[in-house]
Formats: sequence, C-alpha cells, structure tokens
Amino acid sequence: MMSTNMRIALASDHVGLPLRRIVNGWLAGHGWTVVDLGADSEERTDYPLFGFKAARRVQSGDCRFGIVICGTGIGISLSANKVHGIRCVPCSEPYSALLARQHNDANMLAFGARVVGSDLALMIVRTFLEGEYEGGRHQRRLDMIAEIETTQDLAAAAVT
Ligand code: RB5
Repeated sequence: MMSTNMRIALASDHVGLPLRRIVNGWLAGHGWTVVDLGADSEERTDYPLFGFKAARRVQSGDCRFGIVICGTGIGISLSANKVHGIRCVPCSEPYSALLARQHNDANMLAFGARVVGSDLALMIVRTFLEGEYEGGRHQRRLDMIAEIETTQDLAAAAVT
C-alpha cells in the first residue's frame, strides 16, 4: 500500500542535476509531489548542502521519502545519514533498493549520476518506492541502529 504522504524530497549537487531533472519528471508523472531542493545550476557546489536539506524534509515528516544524487551517491548519502532518523542507502541496482525498504525501512535513496544511467536510475527509484517495510525481526535491528545514533553506545554489545 502506498503511503498517504506522497511528498518526496529531491536534491542533488551540480553533477547530479541532469539526472535529477529526469527523476523529477518521472516522480511527478507517477503521482508524487516533488519538493525539489536544488542545486539550481551546474556550477560547482557542495553535496552536503543538498543531502542535508533533503534529509531535514524527511526527518520533519514533511516528505515521506528523499532521493539524493551526486557523482557517486556516496558523499550525499553520507551527509544525509548524519541527520538523526535518516536511513539513506546508496544503490546502483534495484535488488539493494528493494531490500533497503523491506529490511532496513530506508527513508532515503541515493545514487550516482556517474555510476548509473537514467533507465537504471528510474528502475532503482521505482523499486525503492514499491518496497514495503516488513517489520518483524528487522525492527529490533533498526532499534539497535537508533540506539547507537542517540547514545553512541549499544547495550547489547557490552562495548567497553
Ligand atoms: C563532485 O565532483 C563529486 O565529488 C560529488 O558529486 C560526489 O561524487 C561525492 O561523493
């Protein structure tokens, strides 16, 4: 079942801009309200700005998901993942995108404009958005990730 929040945050750095335009068109054509957060030109800029902006929209609940694009998908996903509650996955094939939803309840997707072509990118996007979190045994692990995030510790690991 599709989420009732059909808003999706979309952002990229300068490298990701051409692919972002394609992704934006696809999302809009598939019923999503796209909150496009830039970058607005192909002039060199810094991916953390855009990973952060998209992540905050997801964190606040304004957007159900976020999609972020840079050259590799790495820098922008690292940036998004610094925002509490964000689980942003860099994916260059659909299998990981699906499992990231089913097992990891990923709320953001990243990919690299220098890594994937537009057809593959759209296949990854579609697969990610169709994936449903399965809960169950996976929730305990997500709770452990959240514990690491909030406490910088993990009781179950008895780390000294
Ligand atoms: C920009 O040249 C490039 O470093 C950026 O798009 C991204 O690939 C970083 O992870």
